[in-house]
Amino acid sequence: MKKVEAIIRPGKLDEIKNALAAAEILGITVSQVLGFGRQKGHTQIYRGQEVVTHLLPKIKLEIVTADEKVEEVIEIIVKTARTGQVGDGKIFVQNVDEVVRIRTGEQGEKAI
Ligand SMILES: Nc1ncnc2c1ncn2[C@@H]1O[C@H](COP(=O)(O)OP(=O)(O)OP(=O)(O)O)[C@@H](O)[C@H]1O
Ligand SMILES: [Mg+2]
Repeated sequence: MKKVEAIIRPGKLDEIKNALAAAEILGITVSQVLGFGRQKGHTQIYRGQEVVTHLLPKIKLEIVTADEKVEEVIEIIVKTARTGQVGDGKIFVQNVDEVVRIRTGEQGEKAI
């Protein structure tokens, strides 16, 4: 199992959520986050220290899925999240050792 973590533009959330639901992705966690990428907004001298001043609002999606669905999930996110402008976001994929459905105690892929 893998966790696909995607940082996207807030305005893209609905479209991506609907596309994932249509592809029978069974669960998703959404957080409002702040972040910067390569362009990193601006830095300035503040009381002698250089601080980052531009953290942009982004949305973080977390989707845990079976290994064989990961490529499809990535494809859907890339296709729906891309505008072609800087700041479109990024996708990180991690291994997931275990999943437990709390209600039933089921474990592994059947708990996804
Ligand atoms: N290396 C990273 N680690 C953690 N979060 C990141 C990383 N790179 C980007 N992000 C997150 O993704 C958001 C969007 O990043 P962004 O799309 O600007 O990346 P980029 O590397 O600057 O690419 P681009 O040149 O297309 O803008 C950031 O605001 C941040 O929340
Ligand atoms: Mg950027």
